[in-house]
Amino acid sequence: MHILGNMPRGTIVRSFLFILICLLVASIATQWYGIYIIQSNKILQRHLRGLNKVEIGSSSWDFTQCTDSNIINTVIDRTEDLRIFEHLCERIYKPLNKETQPELCKSCRYKQPVFMKTKKPFVALASFTGAGNSWTRELLEALTGIYTGSIYGDPAGDFEGSSRCPHRGGVYIIKTHSTHNLTKMKDCQLIGAHTIDYERAIHIIRNPYEAILSTFNLIKGKSKTGFADIETFMSPRWPFYVRRIVNYWARMTEYWTQNFTRPTYVLVYERLKTDTYQELYKISRFLDLDSTYLDLFCAKNCLKPKYHRVDKPDWMNISILYDQQLKQAVNTRIFQLANKVKQKSRDLVPELKNYIQV
Ligand SMILES: *[C@@H]1O[C@H](CO)[C@@H](O)[C@H](O)[C@H]1NC(C)=O
Ligand SMILES: *[C@@H]1O[C@H](CO)[C@@H](O)[C@H](O)[C@H]1NC(C)=O
Ligand SMILES: *[C@@H]1O[C@H](CO)[C@@H](O)[C@H](O)[C@H]1NC(C)=O
Repeated sequence: MHILGNMPRGTIVRSFLFILICLLVASIATQWYGIYIIQSNKILQRHLRGLNKVEIGSSSWDFTQCTDSNIINTVIDRTEDLRIFEHLCERIYKPLNKETQPELCKSCRYKQPVFMKTKKPFVALASFTGAGNSWTRELLEALTGIYTGSIYGDPAGDFEGSSRCPHRGGVYIIKTHSTHNLTKMKDCQLIGAHTIDYERAIHIIRNPYEAILSTFNLIKGKSKTGFADIETFMSPRWPFYVRRIVNYWARMTEYWTQNFTRPTYVLVYERLKTDTYQELYKISRFLDLDSTYLDLFCAKNCLKPKYHRVDKPDWMNISILYDQQLKQAVNTRIFQLANKVKQKSRDLVPELKNYIQV
């Protein structure tokens, strides 16, 4: 009391604030550290499976609530909550995955996407071919409940929204593989629309080695397997294709990171695959969607994935299919691009350098 009495009031307030901030930081740190420990400790994970409840920092998490409808219908507003949910409910305790909870898919908010009634500003879903655009479209349709469009007027079979000019309404997330905002789509020509004014973009990037391979398979693939055969890769067509198309990969990445100046979410394909919940959540935020745990669960688990090709033959390995010269051609492009984007998209540089093959 005596000491406080002699202190100037400002100092007391500052000290108080300082202590408050320290407590806050400590509380957040313990939460993160708790999650980190759980994530990295197998024995602890096994032990936790036998419990109903854990305390992490200041929050306690009750496993019996993992499937509680109040919890799963809560709008997620903190990354930490999502981490806890994901790791405890889905990975460790596992009351929440497709195998144990198939009936949860029946509670999904959107059973089937529809054309929306109102208008929304256009969002480009921009990517190089073979970078997971279709898979992302499926996920986004599940998350928004609204069909996605395309600037190409692809046949409606795959995506209902593709055959309709975006300007007619009904769709707002628009697939594009182009480095501009023009469309030559027939349905758009009919109504005199030639450009799409994207207000934002989701830009998917993927390892060019994988994306090029995937595109080549799409073009040359035998319809049965979906893969080009080994003879096609042995022929000059493959190296010729790689050298040509890698320029387009670089242009695409340059355009959407440098030339397109409106808000852009860079979706790293590799992360979408390994950290689906986090990426879906971040996209939800970017699109101003109020996604609940259940919405993310539904998007991740309740699709019948059509666009996730798996089980490549063993020989279809990028370290075999790209010889040293081809690697040099691709690596050079990656380096050039990393240099170009350094100023505006610093975050992207390490991502790009990760793609280098030695
Ligand atoms: C299309 O892009 C050009 C520049 O690339 C820009 O000047 C124009 O305003 C854009 N048009 C629309 C409708 O967004
Ligand atoms: C991006 O803009 C620059 C400067 O206007 C231009 O030189 C470059 O060709 C553009 N890049 C792409 C891929 O359109
Ligand atoms: C591809 O080949 C390399 C070297 O031969 C090997 O280390 C790697 O595991 C293979 N990758 C796959 C996905 O099979």
